[in-house]
Amino acid sequence: MRKPIIAGNWKMNNTASEGVALVKQIAPLVKEANCDVVVCVPAIDIPAVSEALKGTNIALGAENVHFAEKGAFTGEISAAMLLEYGVKYVIIGHSERRQYFGETDETVNKRTLTALKAGLTPIVCIGESLEERETGETEAVLFEQIKVGLKDIEDIKEVVIAYEPVWAIGTGKTATAEQANETIAFIRKTIGELFCPKCAEKVRIQYGGSMNAGNCKELMAMEEIDGGLIGGASLKAPDFAAIVNFDK
Ligand code: PGA
Repeated sequence: MRKPIIAGNWKMNNTASEGVALVKQIAPLVKEANCDVVVCVPAIDIPAVSEALKGTNIALGAENVHFAEKGAFTGEISAAMLLEYGVKYVIIGHSERRQYFGETDETVNKRTLTALKAGLTPIVCIGESLEERETGETEAVLFEQIKVGLKDIEDIKEVVIAYEPVWAIGTGKTATAEQANETIAFIRKTIGELFCPKCAEKVRIQYGGSMNAGNCKELMAMEEIDGGLIGGASLKAPDFAAIVNFDK
């Protein structure tokens, strides 16, 4: 059985003090959760939020990590810097990083390998654009993102994959539960082909893209969907908690 994982992705929202206030509101609401609960926060919020999460069942995540151990990479954050504050997860290759910051499947691969080596759990984002879906290229695009982005990973079970159709992110347009389930089944099949069928059964694959308190139950009821990566709805404690408590 795969344990569901619900992760918030705050993106560029919440100062450190706002972030602390938010996790203090979330913590009591999710303490009975049956899933893994994660908040991925802006790098500068990490020290304060890390402190505020002590004694809770919420794990801390970052929104990116550089692939080098250290060195001349102005503005970047290394795995060791994250680990010092108890960070456990890191989002890699979010579509906004791909779209605005030149992230490619190759850099996703390098960051993912670095994260794994450091003992961080990568949440690797993949997904097709609206145009790619409409022209029937979804499976080819996802196949390539998996093949290149997850190349050379020894133990694929240690990776969390977030399937986020780009057209559903922040748009209010959710993939239907059936669409999401079907596409995630394809991702799992591909993992089975490129790695091993047994590992594919164990890899956790989240859905992301306008997932909210209203649609989470239907999405989470789907056999292939093992959790959610939540943007907008993770910024409000009651909404995020309702998603975490999808099974109650
Ligand atoms: P959204 O974002 O929930 O606001 O659509 C999801 C994401 O980008 O991870």
